[in-house]
Amino acid sequence: MNYNPIQTHTWVPLTIQEEGELLIPIVKAEGEFVTDSEGNTWIDAISSWWTMIFGHRHPKLVAALKTQIEKLDHIMLAGHIHEAAESLSKALLELTNFDFHKVFYSDNGSNAIEIALKLSIQYYQNHPDFRPRSEFLVFSNSYHGDSIGAMNVSGKNYFNRIFSELRFPTKEFPAPNCMNCPWGKKPDVCSTECLNALELEIKQKPYAGIVIEPLVFGANGMLFYDKKVLIKLRELATTTQTLLIFDEVFTGMGRLGKAFAYQKAETKPDLLVMAKGLTGGMLPLGATLVSEFIYKQFLSKDPYRAFFHAHTMTGNPLACSVGYASVELLKEKGLSQVKQLENLLQKQVEPFQKSLGKRIENVRVMGGIFAFEYKETIAEDEYLNPVGKKIREKMKEFRVLIRPLGRTIYITPPYTITEKSLNQIFLALEYTLLSFPESD
Ligand SMILES: Cc1ncc(COP(=O)(O)O)c(C=O)c1O
Repeated sequence: MNYNPIQTHTWVPLTIQEEGELLIPIVKAEGEFVTDSEGNTWIDAISSWWTMIFGHRHPKLVAALKTQIEKLDHIMLAGHIHEAAESLSKALLELTNFDFHKVFYSDNGSNAIEIALKLSIQYYQNHPDFRPRSEFLVFSNSYHGDSIGAMNVSGKNYFNRIFSELRFPTKEFPAPNCMNCPWGKKPDVCSTECLNALELEIKQKPYAGIVIEPLVFGANGMLFYDKKVLIKLRELATTTQTLLIFDEVFTGMGRLGKAFAYQKAETKPDLLVMAKGLTGGMLPLGATLVSEFIYKQFLSKDPYRAFFHAHTMTGNPLACSVGYASVELLKEKGLSQVKQLENLLQKQVEPFQKSLGKRIENVRVMGGIFAFEYKETIAEDEYLNPVGKKIREKMKEFRVLIRPLGRTIYITPPYTITEKSLNQIFLALEYTLLSFPESD
C-alpha cells in the first residue's frame, strides 16, 4: 500500500505536493525500528526528527503514560498545578544543577522559542533600569522553528523567505563554522574572529537577546562549532546586559553527551529552550527554562508585569509524566549510552572516508550525531539540493529512513540503537553513495 501526498486527507509537512513523492504508511514501532503496512521493518536512523532518543515505545515511557492516564488526563495549568508538572520541573532544574529557577511549558520547540523571545522583551519592559528592547541578534544557518517569531530569529533561507514581510527586525550574522572557518583558523588558535562584527554591533545598540543553537546548527546544515564561540558570546552578553538564549530543542536531553550542550560548553545561557527528546519523542512538550534574575522582574502584584502567555495544553499531565520518565532514563543510562554511541560513530569515520573517498567531505561526529556532505557538482548548498532526495530514495531500498538536508547527510539514531543496526545503516549509506558517480 503506497500513498502520495495528493491522495491522503492529511497534508503532510515539508513535502512537495506532487504525485512522485511516495509516503510510507507506518503501522507500528519498537526501539530503532518502524514497521510499514506490508510488514517491512525499517531503521529510523534519525530518531524521527531527533525525538525518539530512547527508541520507539520505550517500556518505561509507556508505563509512565499508562499510570498517568489512570489518574489525571488534563487540567488547564492556569489556576491549577499538578504533580506531573511539578515533578518534571524539579527534575529538569536538578538536571541543570539549579542554573535555572523556573520552567515554563508549551507543546513544541517553536512555541518554547516564542516564549523565550517574549520573556526577554518583557524582562526589559519590566526592569526599572532598562529602556525597552525588542530586537534580537541571530545567525544565518540557524533554525528555531516555523511559527512567525521562531522563523524571525532563524537564518533567512528557503524555509522563510516567502514570509519576509512579516519579519520583525533582527540583526543576522554569519553562523560560526569551525569545520570551514572563513578565517582559516583552527579553534585552538582562533580569537573568535567570526564574532567581530557582532561585537561591534552589540556594543553600539541595545538588543533584547542573542539567540543561538549551542555547538551545532542542526536543521540548517549540521554545522559544528567550538565552545569558544559561546564563551565569547556569554562575555559580550554579560558586558552589554543582553540576554543569552540557547535553543537546545535538538541538543538538550543528552544528544551531545551531556544533559545539555551548555554544560558541555561550560557556558550558561539566561534562557534555555527545549522540546523534542524531552518526552523521548512520545508526546509533544516544550519547556523554556528561566534564570532567577529574569523571573524576579515578573514578581509583582501589578498585572501589567505578569507574563500573559499560555497554550491550552500547557503542562499537559500525560506529556509531563512521560517527560519525567524520560529524564529518569537519561540519568540512569542515557548519557553513558550516548558515549557508547559516539564511540561507535567515531569508529565508522575512517573506514567510511576510505571507502567513499572523494564522494564525501567534512565527515564529523559529536555525541550522537554523524554528519558529512556529499560532494555535489551542483553548487547548491541548501535544503532543496536534489541530491538529498536522491540519497533518501536510494536508502529506502535498504529500509533505512533518513532525511538529508540537501547535500548534508546525517544520522541521529536513538541512544539505544544496537551496533548491528548501526552497521546496517552505514552499509546502506556506503552502497547508496557508491552507486553515485565520484566527483572530481
Ligand atoms: C534547534 C531547533 N529549534 C526549534 C525547533 C522547532 O521545534 P518544533 O518543530 O517542535 O516546533 C527545531 C526543530 O527542528 C530545532 O531543531
